[in-house]
Amino acid sequence: MKNIIMSRLIAPSLLAADFTNLRRDIEMVNNSDADWFHLDVMDGVFVPNISFGIPVIKAIKKVAQKPLDVHLMIVEPDRYIKKFKDAGANHLTVHVEACRHLHRTIQEIREMGMKAGVTLNPHTPVHFLEEIIPMVDIVLIMSVNPGFGGQTFIKSTVSKIKKTRELIEKSGSKALIEVDGGIDLNNAADLYDAGVNILVTGTTVFQSADPAETIHQLKNAR
Ligand code: DX5
Ligand code: ZN
Repeated sequence: MKNIIMSRLIAPSLLAADFTNLRRDIEMVNNSDADWFHLDVMDGVFVPNISFGIPVIKAIKKVAQKPLDVHLMIVEPDRYIKKFKDAGANHLTVHVEACRHLHRTIQEIREMGMKAGVTLNPHTPVHFLEEIIPMVDIVLIMSVNPGFGGQTFIKSTVSKIKKTRELIEKSGSKALIEVDGGIDLNNAADLYDAGVNILVTGTTVFQSADPAETIHQLKNAR
């Protein structure tokens, strides 16, 4: 693992953006070192909060110049795969806990030409990915319980990431590891060291005095 040059990507979560100035915040991300836009879709059923959905993603797509990384925190995501594709999603990530037939869901996402992501809640063990990992493009490890921005990072996530990295290497999968929730300049370096490729950051970026500079610092955290 140490020999592999790990990619270091940043995916700012627009959940923490100023929705009255969304275009300004999207343009900040366009002009920054960030790599993807992370978009959190919540249905009030799978998670105890409602965020935004397809019409907002369509609008974001018109201004965003980087891939849209859509994180679905919804039940029955299969019903909406094509709708999110049509709205402009480049990556579609579903929760293991929300999918009865995960294999089929992942297959459909890929058949529509999107990268397929699978995400694990903090309580879900890494071995749940064992059979599906060869088909997965992105593994998203939740480092908070999904539903809200601004929560505290769950420290045991670091060892979970190491286990995920081991599983990926053992299986020969090319999946990238993304981590989401409570990420800041204090834990970013440890996460990269544990084997993460992509950091999702909401509050840390959008609440900072200079969001573009914060993105730069997160990306270069040592
Ligand atoms: C939580 C979302 C996260 C959230 C991260 O359910 O999946 O993407 O926006 O926000 P911060 O970085 O504030 O924890
Ligand atoms: Zn998210």
